[in-house]
Amino acid sequence: MALDMDKLNAFVGRFVTDLGAAVHAGMVVIGERLGLYKALAAGPMTSAELAAQTGTDERYLREWLSSQAAGGYITYDAATHKFSLSEEQAFTLAREDSPAYLPGAFQLALGALAAVPRIADSFRSGAGMGWHEHDDGVFHGCEKFFRPGYAANLVSSWIPALHDVKEKLEAGARVADVGCGLGASTLLMAKAFPKSQFFGFDYHEKSIAAARGAAEREGFASRVQFQVAKAKEFPGGDYDFVAVFDCLHDMGDPIGAARHVRQALRPDGTWMIVEPYAHDELKDNLNPVGRVYYSFSTLLCTPCSRSQEVGLCLGAQAGESRMRSVVTSAGFSRFRRATETPFNLVYEARP
Ligand SMILES: C[S@@+](CC[C@H](N)C(=O)[O-])C[C@H]1O[C@@H](n2cnc3c(N)ncnc32)[C@H](O)[C@@H]1O
Repeated sequence: MALDMDKLNAFVGRFVTDLGAAVHAGMVVIGERLGLYKALAAGPMTSAELAAQTGTDERYLREWLSSQAAGGYITYDAATHKFSLSEEQAFTLAREDSPAYLPGAFQLALGALAAVPRIADSFRSGAGMGWHEHDDGVFHGCEKFFRPGYAANLVSSWIPALHDVKEKLEAGARVADVGCGLGASTLLMAKAFPKSQFFGFDYHEKSIAAARGAAEREGFASRVQFQVAKAKEFPGGDYDFVAVFDCLHDMGDPIGAARHVRQALRPDGTWMIVEPYAHDELKDNLNPVGRVYYSFSTLLCTPCSRSQEVGLCLGAQAGESRMRSVVTSAGFSRFRRATETPFNLVYEARP
């Protein structure tokens, strides 16, 4: 066997980057939990100064700061021994309202990785694992990771890309957000469209309890109701608009869910389906975004679908053709890709 040393070295170099990234997930979660990035955004500091600001142990902090500086997440000035955040580092790590706030993604990753032993067993048994069975970091990390993208796109570009929906929401419409999780998307829409009524549904009780808390805190309790319900069973009818964000592929029976959405919609209503960005063919998803989604899908989405009736297991990289097939099998007569971002595909389905 003749090893190509250049190729071997390149692969090992990549492995070092990946190993660093794997343990780095924990570093980012620590940094966010203790408010380290936010404190450092105030200006350059030594480890002792940041320790004093954040009430943390200087020795631990110095080790953490060094890991961050080695990974390019924090900037180090060897002349002054001070650490700081560049504008870009602060934008992505310290500003929760930024459209590219990153720590939630690592919280989600760390939470999902806690399931590795059980999922490894599932490879042999074929058993599922429900969303509700995961570590709490999954629910909160998911909300924190997805909310900035929804805040940047949902009201300003996704809804306007749909036929007539923005006008209906402005005038006052009945809206269901199915599989709403902690309700980030529901609350963003409620804020933007004060004449409309919003109903958020999810089968996960803890998520619905957290969503209710958020609605109360934000003062939307009268116009936004969150209720525990499965996608195939959510109550009410005559909805003008139903939305599903990053959850249709998690469901065991997405065709059954689609049928239920269809009968719950008004005849002139619209169903918006937001899904992870994906091409139809595996070969076209073999890129960094595909790697993220296939990995999360192995730990979260596929086992969730497998844990429910039918267990279709579309996976997070289902792609447009499979989504079209799910939606049209349920009786929708129109289906199109309304818009997209590098991370999401947004489909419009009409009865
Ligand atoms: C990836 S999370 C997305 C949550 C939320 N839509 C968001 O974008 O932040 C998937 C959600 O689908 C929910 N879910 C999975 N299967 C479901 C089902 N059959 N009925 C209702 N909700 C379901 C999970 O509980 C979870 O909250």
